[in-house]
Parts: sequence; structure tokens; C-alpha cells
Amino acid sequence: MSDIAPTPRKILITSALPYANGPIHLGHLVEYIQTDIWSRFQKMRGNTCTYVCADDAHGTPIMLRAQAEGITPETLIAKSSEEHQADFAGFNVKFDHYHSTNSIENKELVEHIYLRLKEKGYISRKTISQFYDPEKEMFLPDRFIKGTCPKCKVEDQYGDNCEVCGATYSPTDLIDPKSAVSGATPIEKDTDHLFFELSQFEEMLKTWTREGHLQEQIANKLDEWLESGLRGWDISRDAPYFGFEIPGETGKFFYVWLDAPIGYMSSFKAYCDKTGFDFDEYWKEDSTAELYHFIGKDIINFHALFWPAMLSGANYRTPTAVFAHGFLTVDGQKMSKSRGTFIMAKTYLDHLNPEYLRYYYAAKLTSRIDDIDLNLEDFAQRVNSDLVGKVVNIASRSAGFVMKKFDGKLNDKWTPESTALYQSFIDKSEEIAGLYESRDYGHAMREIMALADKANEYIAEAAPWVLAKTEGKEAELHECVSISLNLFRVLMSYLTPVLPVTAEKSNDFLNLPHGQWNDIKTPLMNHEISKFKALLTRLEMEPIQKMVDASASSLNTTSTVPDGKKGDKKSKPAKEVVEKPEFDALAEEISIDDFAKIDLRIAKIINAEAVPEAKKLLKLTLDIGFEQRQVFAGIKSAYEPEALIGKLTVMVANLAPRKMRFGMSEGMVLAAGPGGSDLYILSPDDGATPGMRVK
Ligand code: MSP
Ligand code: ZN
Repeated sequence: MSDIAPTPRKILITSALPYANGPIHLGHLVEYIQTDIWSRFQKMRGNTCTYVCADDAHGTPIMLRAQAEGITPETLIAKSSEEHQADFAGFNVKFDHYHSTNSIENKELVEHIYLRLKEKGYISRKTISQFYDPEKEMFLPDRFIKGTCPKCKVEDQYGDNCEVCGATYSPTDLIDPKSAVSGATPIEKDTDHLFFELSQFEEMLKTWTREGHLQEQIANKLDEWLESGLRGWDISRDAPYFGFEIPGETGKFFYVWLDAPIGYMSSFKAYCDKTGFDFDEYWKEDSTAELYHFIGKDIINFHALFWPAMLSGANYRTPTAVFAHGFLTVDGQKMSKSRGTFIMAKTYLDHLNPEYLRYYYAAKLTSRIDDIDLNLEDFAQRVNSDLVGKVVNIASRSAGFVMKKFDGKLNDKWTPESTALYQSFIDKSEEIAGLYESRDYGHAMREIMALADKANEYIAEAAPWVLAKTEGKEAELHECVSISLNLFRVLMSYLTPVLPVTAEKSNDFLNLPHGQWNDIKTPLMNHEISKFKALLTRLEMEPIQKMVDASASSLNTTSTVPDGKKGDKKSKPAKEVVEKPEFDALAEEISIDDFAKIDLRIAKIINAEAVPEAKKLLKLTLDIGFEQRQVFAGIKSAYEPEALIGKLTVMVANLAPRKMRFGMSEGMVLAAGPGGSDLYILSPDDGATPGMRVK
């Protein structure tokens, strides 16, 4: 059978450029793994696919972090770039080129694009009033102003929205605003800023967002914006700022989000200079090459509004599509430093094989923007049952017979039944390819595992271990194990984009070169294999727990400078912890009013039982006099459930209920200690009764 290959597609793909002021964590990796799988898949299909990325090196947070560490921003970003690339390589994420936005290529392109936009009348100038830190002598981005929420009056909220009540506002609305950089009270000061006139692109964007370049969920969301009218986008920042100076201005710099997406182009430019690829062929206005950006759902506006407008305004092509994905949660919750679920790439790699995570993410990913959950127990179970139990098992059950009985050679003639079985595996090839193409990786994994089930059923039925002990069944045995290994080869080929290293090991074992997607159309007949070595071992809970513990214990090692991103609050400097390692650092001082908000009650534990699916949780039923509460408490390693029944303890009775995987948790019991088995619940003295308030 011969296939006429369609003209190979020319594809350029990108992942969002990670900020240079923080390490890569498992949340980031959702994106880089998703993109890498797609890149490897396209390459296997014979397309010319180039995957570029870079560090996003500019902006206030990077400037301040460098200052806090007493180094230059250039030193900071060089160090970050090295660490990021090591992390990506550790997860087998293979870029064709990795660059930096603080590069000569980027500077040139940024200036070129800006000047063209300016020439065409898309840049305007306006005076705005902005908060200014008189001590630090700098204008403050919203994220670097803290104060009391004007709506709910909770203190210590960031400048543009309240994390407690969710209100959004302008920093000037904050009560008692303070600079998060110096603590000084900011003053309002006038300054000239440059704006990119997005309103001139309204029609263009209304069409573009509805032309199939975006996922439907996103196009719908952007409609709201487009309907309410587009305003100018502020693209300048005043000195001091770490970035590119704006040509023709003094003391003004390009806002990091202007030069960051241009970093996609300049990374590719540097790649072209290195390899002879044709930059214009991919970026000119009427380019027929395909351009895809993989991004997280938090940065859609930049990629689906500002970026296409900038490109079209500067006479470049616009993206073929922007592919957004959801956010990672761990065990059903936002990644949390204190729970040990804010896991750095490096910490993961210290404990576990990267291919496990690649497979788990693949199994969970869809083409939609729903969040994806890494449930640590499900993770182990899924990897073990699918990869170890179903796929690798096929090879390990058959390889020994081939080596021992048939000199390491596969047979050369198949019965019609065997041929049909093999063909049924090949028949799935285009369907699985289609699922990769549309980024429905989870669906693709299910199809592949269904085939693995089928292969295992075949082996169970043929029972090679019985054939091996039966006289006159040599030929049958040889065929059975040869077919099994051929089916295994097809499965590994389908899994290659997800498990590149395991696939390589499997190719070594099967004596095959790095394969293309269609190679499996030719089965391995009369083919010599090598000795089988374990491809993947079982994933145990122990190293997973160690990884979580290591993540929790690295809690205090980050700098005190906020990184300007939501949800990453200041943590204590490392020094405090080193001096008194046996104690948690003292929490921030609170007022008596803050304390009065906490409703502590005496509770009687009237029932306690283990939650079988959760390693740490006990389900408690608490009586607080006027009602009963159900609470999930992480004290399983410290207490036998029966030992708790009848005991009095103290609970936080007015904590907002939390939905957990096993049900609602309606409060929290108080316990002291570092955790694990070293944990002690609090009990009142004799005389206290359920429902009494603790004051
Ligand atoms: N520097 C910008 C992107 C500029 S692109 C021209 C940025 N950097 S980032 O480091 O914060 O994030 C990089 C990518 O990782 C983004 O697409 C972001 O959505 C993604 N993720 C960061 N945390 C994530 C999760 N917890 N879960 C999934 N993806 C996440 O944004
Ligand atoms: Zn509020």
C-alpha cells in the first residue's frame, strides 16, 4: 500500500513566554507539555513544524526582584533562562529555539513595529494621573499598591481587585493606599503615556474573532469586550523600568506586554538566522504558513485582541489560531504553597519520572479551556494501570519468549486472523491523528488504551505461557508473541508524542529508528529485537508524598518582593526559618477585631471515620450544641478514628464551607504540630460543653 504524502505543512508554534522572575512549576507545564506533544506529533506526521519560545525578561517585577537580590536584571534573567531551560529539558519539552525578549532581535522588531504603527497613526499620547512612590521615586503598577478594599473594608488588598470580596476598582479608590515596594504613602502624579489605538481595529477584530481562529468559549467572551467598545491600550512606562526605551522619547519604555508577544517573532528570527529558515515566508501579510499560539486562559486578551491588532496594523500576518487551555489545580484546589501542592518543575524531577506527568496531563487535556486537576492518588493509579499495567506489560510478557525460544527474531508469516487484528490497530491511525490534531489528547489516550485492552485480551486468550509448555505449539507461540510485539509497537508509536523517552527506549528494544507516524503500516516480520529492559516502573505514593513534603518545606525560600502577579503573596525570608527551624514563623500581627471575627466553639466529636480515597483525611461529625457539622480533617496519620469519638475539641465554626471531593467541609478543627503523625488536636479542660464560644 502506498500513501502519497500531502505537501508537508509549514507550521510555527509557540508557548507563552514564562516570566524570568520565577521558577517553572507544574501549572506552567500544562502548557509546555501540551504544546510539545503537538509539536512532536506534527513532526512525526512529516510536517515542517518549528516550536519556539523565550523568557519574558522585562517589567517592574523583574527589576525589583533583581534589586532585592542585589544583582543586575541581566544577571537575574540569565540565571532564570538557564534554570527554565533545564526544567523544560527535564520534562522532555523540546524547543527548536529558546530565546529572550531582552535580545537584539527583539529590540529591532519592537522598534520596527512601533514605528510602523506610529507612522500609520495608531499611536496617541495622553496625560494620565498615576500613583507614584515618592521614596522609591517610581510610578507604581497596580499590583504594587496595597490598601483597604473600598467595598468590604478588608485590609492589605492589591491595587486593582480584592481577593476577599472580588470587587474590582482603580487603585485610587483604595482606602489608605501604601506602596508595596517601600511602604510609603503614594502620591498621585501626572505623566504622559503612549497608547495604541485599539478602537481603530474594532471592525477588524469583530471579524477576526469570528473567523475560526479562536475556541468558541473565547470568541463568546470577547464579544462582551467588543460590544462595550475598545479603548486605547497603554503601551508606555516611565523610568525606572527594565525594558526597551521608546525611540523618540526620553525616559519612556515599552510596557512589557508590548514587547513580549513580539518575542515570538524574534525568537523565530534568531532561529532563521541560525538555520537559514525564511522569516518573511512565515510572517509576511499573505503568508500561507500556519501560526499557532498556545496560551493559558489568563492571557487571552493580549493574544486575541491586542496581538492580532498590532500585527495587522504593522502589516504582518495574524495567527492561524490561538489555543487557550485552563488552569491546573492540585487535588481539586488552587496550587498552594502551604499544602505542598505548589510544586516546582525541579522538585518534581528530583522525585519522579517526567513521562508520568506528560501522560497524566495528556489523559486530562481537551481542546477546551476547562481547568484540569492533578489528583495525586489518581495520578499514580492512572499511570500504573494504563502505562505499566496495560502497555508495557504487553512487551514484557512477550519479549522473553522471543529471546529464549526464537533467537530474538519475530516470525515471518501471519494467519488471516492475526493480519486482521493488526489491521484493526492500524485502522485507528487517522482517527487518533485527528484527535492529536484537534488537541483532544484525553480522547486520544482513551482510544489508545482501548487498543491496549484489546491486545491484552488477545494475549490472555492465546496464553503464550501455556503454548510454551505444550509440545507442537512452537509456531503458534512464535506467532502469538510476534503479533503481541507488533501491537505493542503500534501502541508505542501512537504514544510517541506523549512519551518521547519511553518511545525511544522501546525503539532501542525493537531495533527501530526514530519513527514517523505511518511507519506502522509496515509490520515487523522476520525482524530481530534486542533484550527487553524495563521501560517504565510502577509509580508509588511514597515518592509522590516526598515531593509534596519537599514542596511544603521550601515554603520560605522565596524572596519578599511581590512578583506583581495575583495570588503570590509575600512569604517570609529564608533567614528566619534557618535560625529556628523547629518553629513556624510567627504570623502577621492582627488586631483584636480581626480575632473577634473568628468564631471558635467547643465541639464534641460524635463520629469519626477514615476517608478511604484520601491518604490524610478523617471525616468528623461534630456536635456544637445547636447543630451538627461535617468536617474533613487532615489528621489520619495521627489518630485512629475510633480513638476520637466522644472527645471534646475546638473548631472554627464560621469558616466558609468548602466543597471537597468527598463532600462539604463545614469548618475546621484545631490541631498543633508540624503535620503527619506529629499532630495534636486541642481539647478544653473539664467542664466545657459543646457549643460554648472560645474567647
Ligand atoms: N509572561 C507572560 C506571557 C507572555 S506571552 C507573550 C506570562 N508568563 S507566566 O509565566 O505567568 O505564564 C506562562 C504561561 O503559563 C501562561 O500561558 C500561563 O497561562 C500559564 N500558566 C501559569 N500558571 C498556570 C497554571 N497554574 N495552570 C495552567 N497554566 C498556567 O503569563
Ligand atoms: Zn473587598
